[in-house]
Amino acid sequence: MDLTALKASAIQDIERANNTQEVEAARVKYLGRKEGELTAILRGLKDMTPEEKRTLGTAANELRQELEALIEKKLAAFARGPRTRFDVTKPGKKLALGHAHPLTKIDTQIREIFSSLNFSVVEGPELEEERYNFDALNIPGWHPARDMWDTFWVKNEVSAKRMLMRTHTSPMQVRYMEAHKAPFQIIVPGRTFRYEATDASHEINFYQVEGLVVGPDVTLANFKFVIEAFFKRFFGSEVEFRFRPSYFPFVEPGVEVDIRLPGGRWLEVMGAGMVHRNVFDAVKYDFRNVQGFAFGMGLDRLAMIKYGIPDIRLFYSGDLRFTKQF
Ligand code: PHE
Repeated sequence: MDLTALKASAIQDIERANNTQEVEAARVKYLGRKEGELTAILRGLKDMTPEEKRTLGTAANELRQELEALIEKKLAAFARGPRTRFDVTKPGKKLALGHAHPLTKIDTQIREIFSSLNFSVVEGPELEEERYNFDALNIPGWHPARDMWDTFWVKNEVSAKRMLMRTHTSPMQVRYMEAHKAPFQIIVPGRTFRYEATDASHEINFYQVEGLVVGPDVTLANFKFVIEAFFKRFFGSEVEFRFRPSYFPFVEPGVEVDIRLPGGRWLEVMGAGMVHRNVFDAVKYDFRNVQGFAFGMGLDRLAMIKYGIPDIRLFYSGDLRFTKQF
């Protein structure tokens, strides 16, 4: 038998083997020490001419190596077991991915809604100067309204300025107007701090979203339109809300806005009003040319209403059983 025919039939036998015994049979048939067909050829080399030895010898040895490798591969494939078919109709395996905290979700949603209403989103510092948090907002040191904001004062070892953790996002009203001309419309989402006892509806830190719209003829009616559009997008079109007269030193008139809860109870979610003249004076706006509305809402409150969460402290508990539900 010539080498080419032997190679073809050996490869075929090995390829067709269905189990290890059949592979072994093929091995014995071609490479067996006593009667292997290739072994016989290799053994016959010694009776050949040097010329024949060189050509046939090389080819026969190469073939032996090739067959051994093939056999090894085949045996390894049997050792791996049957190849499992890929079933494209099976549902995929779900990857365990993390997800956003409920407050982050609410924050993202609020930014999206106001952006679509043509508001810019800006942010400000959490460590704030007394002037921005209070004085420029028409709350001088002697003002009794300072009691509305229990304050974390922070020791300032660098300058004489009194520093605090901002008690609301309203200081950004002042910072923004100092740096920009009207007209504009902004929201300021951010973290706020109050030196208070905690309970189911109070935390020492929480989140607010400030809003400020200033222009030549902005009115409280514009505020009602904007906030109604926001509530409808955020809670759904059946949402009920109401304005109550209220007092904040930096607005006149001032209102509080309540949302009707599923049980029928009203819950306050924001303070608002028309920007006070003294605030415009503090930022060197001419009150005869501009007017505007401002609002500040509690992000945690909105999240509690939307998701029916009974206790604000759950947001900051770090308890995965809580956060995984959103
Ligand atoms: N800053 C006020 C608060 O924290 C809310 C508010 C903002 C009221 C803007 C009026 C206008 O309670």
